[in-house]
Amino acid sequence: MRIRVPGDKSISQRALILSALGSGTSRLKGLLCSGDTESTLSALRGLGVRIPDIPRDGSEVLIEGVGLGGLKTPTHALDLGNSGTGARLLLGTLSGSSLSATIDGDASLRMRPMARVTEPLELMGARFQQLGEVGRLPLTVRGCSRLKPLEWNSPVASGQIKSSLLLAGLTGHARIVVTEPLESRDHTERLFNAVGTTVIGEEIDTGWRVEMPHPPDEIGPLDFTVPGDISSAAFVLTLAALGGAGKELTIESVGLNRTRTAFLDVLSRMGVDIEVHDRTPEGFIEPRGDLVVRPGDLRATSVGAAEIPSLIDEIPLVAVLGACAEGETKITGAEELRSKESDRISAVTENLRALGVVVEELDDGLIVQGVPGRKLSGLVNAFHDHRIAMSFSVLAGATGASIHVADSRVSDVSFPGFDRLIQKLTEKAG
Ligand code: S3P
Repeated sequence: MRIRVPGDKSISQRALILSALGSGTSRLKGLLCSGDTESTLSALRGLGVRIPDIPRDGSEVLIEGVGLGGLKTPTHALDLGNSGTGARLLLGTLSGSSLSATIDGDASLRMRPMARVTEPLELMGARFQQLGEVGRLPLTVRGCSRLKPLEWNSPVASGQIKSSLLLAGLTGHARIVVTEPLESRDHTERLFNAVGTTVIGEEIDTGWRVEMPHPPDEIGPLDFTVPGDISSAAFVLTLAALGGAGKELTIESVGLNRTRTAFLDVLSRMGVDIEVHDRTPEGFIEPRGDLVVRPGDLRATSVGAAEIPSLIDEIPLVAVLGACAEGETKITGAEELRSKESDRISAVTENLRALGVVVEELDDGLIVQGVPGRKLSGLVNAFHDHRIAMSFSVLAGATGASIHVADSRVSDVSFPGFDRLIQKLTEKAG
């Protein structure tokens, strides 16, 4: 069987923001239409950008950019819903804009750390008024279109921090240097280069360094097709790896950016037969290709700090696979998981234990004792977190286990149509 998954969430978010800031008309295809991108879209509308609705079928959207200085003071607070990426990227964008705006989010987003971006943004000259708990949303940002240059050593490898600062440098016309302990996803750098803003990334002794040396006065429009989201494909790959999608499944046109593909390496190490067919077009911004997956006898693996940034959103799936693999699967160096839409280390531990799996919770990860072929049953919680809900739905679908995922509809945040797709695949396989 051949399927596609919805557009990449990280890339869609960035493409929407950059198109809004461009001079001219951007043409975007394959954009993700989900809760998170809808939140960013409506925030951009609140800032005076006229953007049509995102079509559900990935067809073309034309966005008339307002230019780097063209965002307007909104008349109401901008509600970023569940979207950490949307909130942090807009905090950066607005820091370099001469306006004042309040950014808020849902209960989960209000718990997530924002000081990791507001602290460096303040050094550049932006001002933040705390309306809730310290270091959390809601926050009012007062921006300035001439920010000070910044050299920032981020203690965590984070695409959101790096992108927030690059966007502040772009709107606030300030040179930016960011270092991080390991390279995080580089979609912002690629899109910046595509719209005419040079960003250079290089390996250094302490990790990774990016520099935007000369922020331009204006950026060009984007003409771009967003690839399928490898983080969404990962749920389907896991279903297939566990035997829940038949003997062979092909997922077409998935993003293959090397800062995102470590889950494919993990699957191979665990004994899953996975083929990658690169179909990257010429003059590409983001590489893409087809993935062919066939189930195998699963064996345990270890995932350490070096791999974490490039599979940060797939770690719950590694734990789920570990529960069905021969041996002990160990995940370490993943303390960032505690700051996601839920505390994903404790959420995964609690859910696996509720199903009878032996799990040791570590500060920075977990150790899962796998037993292949075991019958699992129980009630698990989604913790209002789309990736936790989908990880356990896949486990249920693939193993035929009786798992009830309380509150599973949160998957709409990143993967609309997920339940229907899993049902279709498992029915065909059965
Ligand atoms: C994202 C970066 C990652 C990831 C998140 C999306 C992005 O977060 O977990 O789902 O689009 O930049 P961090 O930047 O916090 O690592």
